[in-house]
Amino acid sequence: MAVPKSRVLHRSLRETPPKAIGGDGVWLISEDGRRILDGSGGAAVSCLGHQHPRVVDALARQASKLAYAHTSFFSSEPAEALAELLVGDEPGGLAYAYLVSGGSEAIEASIKLARQYFIERGEPRRQRFIARRQSYHGNTLGALAAGGNAWRREPYAPLLPSAFSHVTPAFAYHEKHDGETDGDFVARLATELDGEFQRLGADTVAAFIAEPVIGATAGCVAAPEGYFRAVREICNRNGALLILDEVMCGMGRTGTTHAWEQEGVAPDIQAIAKGLGGGYQPIGAMLASGAIIATIADGSGAFLHGHTYLAHPLACAAALEVQRIIAEEHLLDRVRDLGRHLERRLTERFGNHRHVGDIRGRGLFQAIELVADRATRAPFDPALKLNQTIKAAAFEAGLACYPGGGTVDGRRGDHVMLAPPYISTADDIDMMVERLGSAVDSALRSISH
Ligand SMILES: Cc1ncc(COP(=O)(O)O)c(C=O)c1O
Repeated sequence: MAVPKSRVLHRSLRETPPKAIGGDGVWLISEDGRRILDGSGGAAVSCLGHQHPRVVDALARQASKLAYAHTSFFSSEPAEALAELLVGDEPGGLAYAYLVSGGSEAIEASIKLARQYFIERGEPRRQRFIARRQSYHGNTLGALAAGGNAWRREPYAPLLPSAFSHVTPAFAYHEKHDGETDGDFVARLATELDGEFQRLGADTVAAFIAEPVIGATAGCVAAPEGYFRAVREICNRNGALLILDEVMCGMGRTGTTHAWEQEGVAPDIQAIAKGLGGGYQPIGAMLASGAIIATIADGSGAFLHGHTYLAHPLACAAALEVQRIIAEEHLLDRVRDLGRHLERRLTERFGNHRHVGDIRGRGLFQAIELVADRATRAPFDPALKLNQTIKAAAFEAGLACYPGGGTVDGRRGDHVMLAPPYISTADDIDMMVERLGSAVDSALRSISH
């Protein structure tokens, strides 16, 4: 009987990963003393790299004052300061922050807030949500139901609520027809989305939910120009809310604090997480518009939701310091500059590669998609597990990157994402691309045997 060696239930029950025992800027240090270049901040989390002295100090200061006080009795200094920093100037009309422990919790809260808002507005029929195929919104059951990734949903399908339906994602590389312009593609997607509202009954839909730049399930896919403006208009016309999931692509990752700033729209509700706390503490947040919160304040007066670790003081202190550093050190300018550098280097290394069909992304959020045939965009046989082979080869070469499978339809396709820390140097970026290049070539050699 093959029983796992470790008592920790790891992601794989067959292998125990090496222990990480330290961090140093863009480097992770494993128990055998190896230094691994962190090219993806885990899953686009570690935006300031590891062991940033200011964040470590802020955590120690808060831990020495107060680690925890339940939110049904108290607020805390770091929670108030963090919310002020995030929504004090009401970006896009977002005026309140609900501080949770991660991305899935932020999505669950977003879905529930949308539903409660419509009950309190006297529109209880609005109980449907439209999302997109190939999206990822988290692994708790509500978030998983919102997500459109076939592989992740399949085993749990019987448990998922039927309130969610899915339309075509704005994923030009696979979904745009030959000969179709970006404008035609956007128009076709808009017609499909509006059609879905009408099919369900427009007055039954609470919200449309989407990632402005699709992350883990498709690999850094930004929408064509005009798509989110069309989506915003359709939501408005049908009286529904727009929920944007910026858990992975937000908090500066694409070069602006919010990815939606580059789309000319703002959401009614937004989920953020990873780059919010940079991995120094588990933290996420739901940001909500002033209008939504005013409706509930005038109605029942309470959001019918909650968790034990809401607005955890240590988590808020870490996120507050991370966000202050990003602002004070003008790190988003750096994300934009380094993002262009990363894109250039990826294009030099993979632009003519016979098995790299697409290089895409924004800011320090870039991916390559692997294809068996560039002309037809046909993916490799998923049984070859190419993306996992690349991950192993990269790790061997001293690079942590973030590969994914099922890029095309949840089952077929391979991509690799890079999401370097904002504190990286151009040399670090060069090293990431070089190591990724060797890993891709060695993985392709090994699967062709
Ligand atoms: C877009 C998106 N939404 C939600 C989540 C879920 O976040 P968490 O894993 O913190 O629960 C993720 C995680 O990868 C994500 O990328």
